[in-house]
Amino acid sequence: MYVCCCEGVTDRQIKISIENGNIVSFNDLCAEFGIANNCGKCLEEVREIFNESIKRKSNSFNSEFKDIFKPEIGTKLILQ
Ligand code: FES
Repeated sequence: MYVCCCEGVTDRQIKISIENGNIVSFNDLCAEFGIANNCGKCLEEVREIFNESIKRKSNSFNSEFKDIFKPEIGTKLILQ
């Protein structure tokens, strides 16, 4: 679905860019796709998509991180 009609940007393009790690900030997103370069009517919806996508990516990373660094029972963690 088009979210920025002026630049022809879809919600899918935004989600894929964030998922692939190409976009890490809202400013990056706007610069990459030219969002808000014209009327700016899309800003609120784009920000919602950005926030949801970043949150989903963060949750995904956290669950992967837990699985990778899950200590086995009986393992002593030494913090220095
Ligand atoms: S709809 Fe995105 S700048 Fe106009």
